Amino acid sequence: MTSLTLDTPELAQQYDEISDPQYEHGQFLLQALALKPGDKLLDIGAGTGRLSELVARHHVGPAGHVTALEPLPLRVAIARGRASANHTVEVGQGEDLSRFEDNQFDAVILNSVYHWLPDKARVLAESFRVLKPGGRIAISSAARERPHDIQQIISRILGQTGLGRSHAIGSTPYKVSFAELAKQLEHAGFLVDEIRIRRFADRFGDIQAVLDFSAASSFGNFLNEFLPEVRGKLLADIHDALVQYRQADGSLLLYRNLLFAVGRKI
Ligand SMILES: C[S@@+](CC[C@H](N)C(=O)[O-])C[C@H]1O[C@@H](n2cnc3c(N)ncnc32)[C@H](O)[C@@H]1O
Repeated sequence: MTSLTLDTPELAQQYDEISDPQYEHGQFLLQALALKPGDKLLDIGAGTGRLSELVARHHVGPAGHVTALEPLPLRVAIARGRASANHTVEVGQGEDLSRFEDNQFDAVILNSVYHWLPDKARVLAESFRVLKPGGRIAISSAARERPHDIQQIISRILGQTGLGRSHAIGSTPYKVSFAELAKQLEHAGFLVDEIRIRRFADRFGDIQAVLDFSAASSFGNFLNEFLPEVRGKLLADIHDALVQYRQADGSLLLYRNLLFAVGRKI
């Protein structure tokens, strides 16, 4: 279950500071969208607004517009510090886009948001509705068939401790496979232009940085389903397991795999 009530000022601020991985792979989605001056973009789950600020400054020009929609008020507050004449930030969830008219946007982006959504059909249907004919949707999501290194560690530890092997436990609860994502997009009416899995190598200064990244990216959901003492033990086990990812210079190298998809409203 994704909870939207567990965020803290510290996690929100930390996310703003350590979300370079999301910021960087978000730019792959922007490349695929190839936005033009004058375009209108809806950024669903915009977080602290780093990617939407980039779009407002460098992709859509003063005649275009970016609407950043984000459910967590603490992240909205940070994103609003980045707002400008062509970049507005609103509190809201992807499941309810009723404030927007039909055929309003040239593009919709969900960067590292899709794996948090329990009701993807609703978010896709709403995205389809607010897109203009020919408008595009770009999604990056954790891939069920190729979990991140950190997710593999968590699954192994949960399995060893008998706490469960479900992909939904620990982090990114609603991952999809390549085939599921294609089907969901098609079911919503999109023509799928492209789906691929990309692999990323992330360097972290130390083990704590890996845990901080997982916590801030999960807005309080990281291992939150466990009682505090169990969670503490799991974190200690994950810490120990991460030692083997240490490089000669003390940094850690971990791999992430993400699905990237682009669909078009026909
Ligand atoms: C890992 S962050 C990604 C933030 C941003 N897209 C970026 O690229 O940095 C995931 C975001 O998804 C948002 N989120 C979770 N559930 C959502 C929902 N139902 N509708 C919209 N956003 C949601 C969270 O609030 C969080 O900001």
